[in-house]
Amino acid sequence: MLNAKMLKALNGQINAEMYSSYLYLGMEAYFQSISLNGFASWMRGQVQEELFHAMKFYDFVFERGGQVTLQTIKKPESSWKSPLDAFKNVLKHEQLVTSLINDLVNLAIAEKDHATLNFLQWFVAEQVEEEASVGEIVDKLKLIKNDTSGLFFLDADMSKRVFTLPQKGE
Ligand code: FEO
Repeated sequence: MLNAKMLKALNGQINAEMYSSYLYLGMEAYFQSISLNGFASWMRGQVQEELFHAMKFYDFVFERGGQVTLQTIKKPESSWKSPLDAFKNVLKHEQLVTSLINDLVNLAIAEKDHATLNFLQWFVAEQVEEEASVGEIVDKLKLIKNDTSGLFFLDADMSKRVFTLPQKGE
């Protein structure tokens, strides 16, 4: 059984993951509007991945006998100065999510909630991966600068991302 503090924090994280999905949906629309369809397709994968994260928290709350309470999802930004500007924002956002996950870990430790602590380890590892993959894209975009052919090449590469729903336990 989750205690009230942990339950509130986990419900807050469902909202944060839903916001992440919504933010990336806005970015998908931005990339689509400037005809960078590979970047847009990469963002679609990100939208689905964040929704999966939200549902992972949702399922865990119920599994532990808690009640899911949905909150308002705030309006995300919808325009960026350039692909680099958008991806710098993705990195900044993922760093924020990492700090939210770390706060949850700290709370689980303080509350001696070992089951939640164990559940959160998946997200700790996931955030390392997310920050690394987004950081790599930011670096590539910095190298490309204003080189249009470089941008088209990266766009083609970005289109290769396919999101597959992880199996239970992955
Ligand atoms: Fe759910 Fe990208 O962190």
